[in-house]
Amino acid sequence: MSKRILITGGNSGIGFCTADQLAAQGAEVSLACRDQTKGQAAVARIKNAHPNAKVRLFPLDLADLENVHDNAAVIYRELGEIDVLINNAGVVPTRQEFTRDGYEMQFGVNYLAPVLFTHLMLPLLKKGNQPRVLHVASVAHWLGRINKSTWRGRKPYLVMDAYGQSKLGNILFSNVLADRLEDLGITSNALHPGGVDTPIFRHVPKPAMALIRPTLTTPEQAARLPVSLAMDPQYAGITGEYFANFKPALRSPRARNRKLAEELYYDTMAELNLPTL
Ligand SMILES: NC(=O)c1ccc[n+]([C@@H]2O[C@H](COP(=O)([O-])OP(=O)(O)OC[C@H]3O[C@@H](n4cnc5c(N)ncnc54)[C@H](OP(=O)(O)O)[C@@H]3O)[C@@H](O)[C@H]2O)c1
Repeated sequence: MSKRILITGGNSGIGFCTADQLAAQGAEVSLACRDQTKGQAAVARIKNAHPNAKVRLFPLDLADLENVHDNAAVIYRELGEIDVLINNAGVVPTRQEFTRDGYEMQFGVNYLAPVLFTHLMLPLLKKGNQPRVLHVASVAHWLGRINKSTWRGRKPYLVMDAYGQSKLGNILFSNVLADRLEDLGITSNALHPGGVDTPIFRHVPKPAMALIRPTLTTPEQAARLPVSLAMDPQYAGITGEYFANFKPALRSPRARNRKLAEELYYDTMAELNLPTL
């Protein structure tokens, strides 16, 4: 039976290439995207490249928690079961922006809304086959500190401080899920895809980008890791890990801190008005 995989932000960059490669391997792929025009274009490109591909599109705006609730309900009704959830969508605005609920954009889109979305997708994963949750984190988590006082913004805004916190949050959440879902047989792993030339750098000034670009890999290359973690039998049963270059990678001391992970989880669930697992 083909794997049923749901990926956020599957219309661009690493997410698009991941969806494309998964479809090429025969997976049934659902893209959850905020921009339906871009999403439809992505679906068309995948179907064009792989005429037998089973690809679907759902709306999802991670900058709006009500939208996440509403669209998760649609996905629940339409899909019923999934085997893999890939939390891929992310942003790096260089100027401070805010979500509809008043959270700093990177905290809200990269961390908080994916926690909510994951909880809302758990009933589908529970019915899945060897269910897996993947969190596209980053080596930039080493820069991150969990600082509640910045969740609704800070002055001055420090873009990498906010990005680092959101990506540290991804790994800490992955660790907590791994512990709490172990008895259900659902695995949870985080990954760093490498430095990748994607539109995520669109806010970076051109001269700086010219310096950075030669150090970056392609999204096609970067997608091979999430594709492998989603599809390959060798990763069945492996949980609570952080992968880079197809092997477990070193996490920052904060990303290994179980007490910090639990505290963040309780605070996050309180923000989201959700019961803990
Ligand atoms: N590129 C790198 O070097 C690198 C390194 C480490 C980790 N990562 C991580 O990799 C992931 C993918 O990034 P990428 O480099 O592939 O960048 P990208 O091409 O800009 O893709 C980001 C995706 O997230 C979506 N997204 C943004 N805001 C959203 C929202 N409010 N609701 C729903 N979806 C939203 C985007 O949709 P739109 O097209 O509508 O904007 C896009 O599909 C991110 O989590 C990023 O932090 C990237």
